[in-house]
Amino acid sequence: MYFDPEPKEKKEDLYNFEGEYRELHNSIKKGERIIVIKGIRRMGKTSLMKVIYNEIKYPKIFIDGRIIPPKQNEILNVLLQESVVALTENFIDLKLKNILKEITVTPFGMGATFSFSSGIKSFEKIGKILEKRKSKLVIFIDEAQKLKAGNISGIIAHLFEHTRHITVVLAGSEVGILDSIIGLDAESDLYGRPKKLIKLNRLRKKDAMEFLQLGFKQHKKEIEKSDIEKALEIFDGIIGWLTLFGYYSITHDVDNSLKIVKKEGRKITAKEIEHFLKFRKEAKRRYLKLLEALSTPLRWVEVKRFLEAQEGKKINDKMVSKYLHELEKYGFISRNEERKYLVADPMIKEGVLLLTRGK
Ligand SMILES: Nc1ncnc2c1ncn2[C@@H]1O[C@H](COP(=O)(O)OP(=O)(O)OP(=O)(O)O)[C@@H](O)[C@H]1O
Ligand SMILES: [Mg+2]
Repeated sequence: MYFDPEPKEKKEDLYNFEGEYRELHNSIKKGERIIVIKGIRRMGKTSLMKVIYNEIKYPKIFIDGRIIPPKQNEILNVLLQESVVALTENFIDLKLKNILKEITVTPFGMGATFSFSSGIKSFEKIGKILEKRKSKLVIFIDEAQKLKAGNISGIIAHLFEHTRHITVVLAGSEVGILDSIIGLDAESDLYGRPKKLIKLNRLRKKDAMEFLQLGFKQHKKEIEKSDIEKALEIFDGIIGWLTLFGYYSITHDVDNSLKIVKKEGRKITAKEIEHFLKFRKEAKRRYLKLLEALSTPLRWVEVKRFLEAQEGKKINDKMVSKYLHELEKYGFISRNEERKYLVADPMIKEGVLLLTRGK
């Protein structure tokens, strides 16, 4: 069902990601080693990952960066333990005990911790098992940006140096942070390694309309075209909000559903912005003003002029670029076809209003 608000798990519930779905399947099959799913919040990254995860037959693990402490050894431990379980589940003839023996850990060692080098060595052995069985291990890491402080790029780089037959699929909403992990900048250990990028975009208007129409049809409900237009005006082609709108419309009328989702969206985005500002207290007011202004697309120079007009004084060019860069890095703003800056999601403006005016 399209309007199920949880991340989707089955292909039939996934609307319109045919190209991306095939690309991900093929990249895993072809043996790409790093695959990255990019997209701002609520674009369907987790859904795409979960659907493919459920479908592939290789040993596989799925971890969520939000629930692992961002420490190098902890991350490696989780990866190792989950990988052992994945191998045992996949190769039923191979008893867990045997694998554990092969990777030099006693059966009761499952909860035990490994040092970094013994962890990597254990992965080498896992690599050999995979090689013997002509298989591969696919590691899905959602919200990977949360593991940056735990040196996730170093861990992956080490894994790749010491083992073959492992593919890592990464996703994360803070687009710029993900870039720095996967080595689009030179500081990462993964810099210069080939990687496959799969980008999820907002739905085009015609597809967003179709998504809502089909979703309503699944629930044997009708929706007026004018109501669809209303929803698109508020939520744009962001599939997460459209799904939520559809979900509430099953039990509420259209206007109430719009209100509920707007209210929820405002709360969620306000929380996300608040979190971002927690570490940027000194420029909090400027960031909020900027986000409010960027519900209209602006060029760099217009952004500068806007900030200066707000404060009645000159603002250093470098600072203007820094604000824009940070907002873009965390996925709050993006650039349109004309390279103008604008909020990545219309609900961000709502979140800002909640933070600044309490409504
Ligand atoms: N292709 C799709 N078809 C139907 N529903 C979808 C699709 N993609 C996403 N959704 C729905 O949109 C919402 C957001 O999806 P999901 O959690 O997968 O996105 P995300 O990009 O991982 O979001 P976040 O950035 O918050 O982690 C969920 O309710 C999900 O069910
Ligand atoms: Mg997600």
